[in-house]
Formats: sequence, structure tokens, C-alpha cells
Amino acid sequence: MPKAKTLYVCQSCGASSPKWIGRCPSCGEWNTYIEELEITGSARKSSKAVSNLLERPRKLSEIETGKNERFSTGNSEFDRVLGGGLVPGSIVLLGGEPGIGKSTLALQMALTVENRLVLYISGEESLEQIKLRSLRLHVKNESCLFLSETSLDNILAQIDRVVPGLLIIDSIQTVSAEWIESSAGSVSQIRECTAAIMKTAKERALPVILIGHINKEGSIAGPKVLEHVVDTVLQFEGDRNYMYRILRASKNRFGSTHEMGIFEMQQDGLREVSNPSELLINPEHQGLSGTSVAAAIEGIRPFLIEVQALVSSAAYGNPQRSATGFDLRRLNMLLAVLEKRAGFKLITKDVFLNIAGGIKVSDPAIDLAVICSVLSSNFDKTIDPGMCLAGEVGLTGEVRPISRVEQRIAEAEKLGFRRILVPSANKGLSIKNQKIEMIRIKNVSDALKVLFGHS
Ligand code: TYD
Ligand code: MG
Repeated sequence: MPKAKTLYVCQSCGASSPKWIGRCPSCGEWNTYIEELEITGSARKSSKAVSNLLERPRKLSEIETGKNERFSTGNSEFDRVLGGGLVPGSIVLLGGEPGIGKSTLALQMALTVENRLVLYISGEESLEQIKLRSLRLHVKNESCLFLSETSLDNILAQIDRVVPGLLIIDSIQTVSAEWIESSAGSVSQIRECTAAIMKTAKERALPVILIGHINKEGSIAGPKVLEHVVDTVLQFEGDRNYMYRILRASKNRFGSTHEMGIFEMQQDGLREVSNPSELLINPEHQGLSGTSVAAAIEGIRPFLIEVQALVSSAAYGNPQRSATGFDLRRLNMLLAVLEKRAGFKLITKDVFLNIAGGIKVSDPAIDLAVICSVLSSNFDKTIDPGMCLAGEVGLTGEVRPISRVEQRIAEAEKLGFRRILVPSANKGLSIKNQKIEMIRIKNVSDALKVLFGHS
């Protein structure tokens, strides 16, 4: 007889306790303990552990890699973030806020995968709703099968029956196993269902994409262990007021986590944005004070981005500083550098900073553009619209070297910029036949001389 016992499980981190606790001692969250029935011992459906002992440990040279070759999902931005395509047998967790477009992205990808039978299981939408959505997308694919199902056992049985080459489950929070008493979406359900799906996936070299909800803190709902178990964790993010959507990997066993995929939400689904620079700089804004263009790199892709600043006299005693798409602490640091090293009194001014397009950039090379935009707005002097900026600013006001300058210069040249400011500390640049004029600067004052004629 299976033994069932009651446990209180933290819905935030998955820690458990035999008694209810108000504050989780493991993650510090309040009121997260919920009573769940945990089945122990023989009732757990993982009795195959012993048969695995028959497998003999192997040398690296004996392991074949052929069946693990990546395949393309037919969506180049998605492939890019995965590190070049999906790896058979890997589990990808796709998280994001409600309504951001996770289901749209998954469906679109299901319909563009070639030469593979796709099984798309939805616990959130009926088949009619999926059909209606696919009509909006205008893509057809006869090798994609749809099923509306939430029971784990039925899903596993369908995998046996259909033998898909790619499995998509929307969402893992709706899947439940009957042998666990707690409701769908609870920590034990998510943990056990993911484990069962993963076991099947590894046995069959079946790639799986699981869609996951995120909680109010922005991390994927369910136990943290879930993120450890899966191979890749992707976050789909974006500001709802903008059409851009960014796909990032926060964990990737088969590729880099620096890659970024950019999409644009349109009437007929998500469009891949393969050349982001054209969208992120608005030629009409150039030549207005407070605007400059930075040559940034995210992952391996260079792109140009517009940085806007507004500096005005503070109406109240406490000046406001606000940044969208840029780290506020870093902005404060750059303002302090301007104050201390370049002698600008911004202490009585409000400073607002905005990275165009609702995109968050973590590349430090946009520091120079931030500083120059702030000063441009402060003096109300425009920056030459043909000028592009790249450089990290250090605490002494020096412009520090940045990575892959050649790529940034090439991107600026491609988009028709005539001049680019780069750190003189970047030595030995191998740039041939460039038309763009490269101006090397040592510190912030050099940049001001070039841009505004200040000494
Ligand atoms: P959805 O994929 O349902 O989000 P999620 O699964 O992350 O909750 O996306 C829903 C939003 O996308 C909805 O606000 C409408 C919008 N949308 C479009 O703008 N165009 C489209 O073609 C589709 C299918 C959705
Ligand atoms: Mg959805």
C-alpha cells in the first residue's frame, strides 16, 4: 500500500516541513507553506533505477554523439538563443509574464519545424482556440499534432502512441499526476511531472519545450529545483507597451547565455528581428539635444541603440534620477564621475534616462553614450547625427577598453555613420578599408572636446 503523508511545502522554494510555518526558513518568504500530500516509498513511479545499473560506464571515446546533433527550429532568433538549434533529449523551459507571447512563440515554432513530427499539448487553450491563433499566424504545417490534455499519464501514453520528434507543453503548471493529491501547479506536481517528462525525454532523445508561468518576482513559478533540472531556461520578456519582445537564456547547458533574440509582436504573430539597429534608432530623433547613438553588443550580435536623456532643474529639494532600460546605480555612478572628474554640477538637476525601444542593455560600452546624452541635454547642444559612441567609463573619468570594437565599428559603418568615438586604450585594431572616421579618446573630457568643443 502506498503511504501517503501530509507535508507543508513552500510554494516559493520547495522546502518542506511536517508543520505549517509562517515564514520559510529556507527562502525567507512569508505565507508560502501549503499542505500537500506526499506519497513516499513504493508508490513513487520511479522503479526503473535498478535497471539502469545494467548500463556499463563508458569511456569518452565510446560515446556516440551522432543522435545528439542539433536541429533548427525554423525560427532563427530562437535558434540563436538556444546556441544554434534544439538538442535532442534536452528540456527547455520557456518562462515569461502572462500575455507576453509565450504560446504564440511556441505555436509559431511548432509550425515552422521541418521534417519532425511535433506534438503540441495545451492545457490552457482548447483546440479551437489554437486553431484560431494559427489562422492569425498564416502558417500551415501538416506534421504538427495538437492535443488538449492535462493529465500526466495521458500525456506519457500519447508520447508512446504518437512518437513525436518534438514535444511542446503549454504549460507545465497545468499538468498534473493523479497519484499526487495536491492541485495542479503546486510544487510537488510541477516537480514530479517535470521529472517524469524528463525521464521519457532522455530515454527517447526527445526534445521538449515546457512553457512556465512566472511569479510576481519574475522568476519561474514552482520550485527552484525545476530550473536546476532542465537543460535550458529561456525568459521571454518585453514591455507590454512596446512591440519588441526579447528572448534570453538565463541558463543553457548547450550554448552561451549571452545571446539575445529579438521579436516584434505584430497582428499576425511574432516577426523575427534580424537587424535590430534599424528599429532601435529613429533617424528623426537624431540631431535633437539629449540623444546619442551607442554601438552595443549583446551576445555576439552588435547593434546600435538610441540613448535619450533629459536634464532639467529640480523642482523639489531632492533631484530625481530615473532610468529605463539602464541600471539606475550605474547612472548615479556616471553622474558622480561627471561631477567629480569633469566639474559639472548636476546635483540640482533632475536626470531622466531612456534606452529606446524598451530594451534592457547590460553592455558597459554604452556608458559613453549615456554621459554624452546627459551633457547634451544639460547644455542643450546637439550631438552630430553622424556620430556613434562606444566606450566604458571608469571611476576616474577614463574611457576604458571595450570588447570587439571591430564589430561595433563595422555595424556603425553599415548603418551610414560617419564618425565613431572609441577608447584609445583599445590597441591594435585590424580594420581595413573603412570609410568611417575613428576618433580615439582617453577620457570623458576628450569626448566633450570632440562633441561640444569644450576644453
Ligand atoms: P500569448 O501567446 O497568448 O501569451 P502567453 O502565452 O505568454 O500568455 O500572447 C498573447 C498576446 O499576444 C495577446 O495580448 C495578443 C497578442 N498577439 C498579437 O498581437 N498578434 C498575434 O498574432 C497573436 C497570436 C497574439
Ligand atoms: Mg499562453
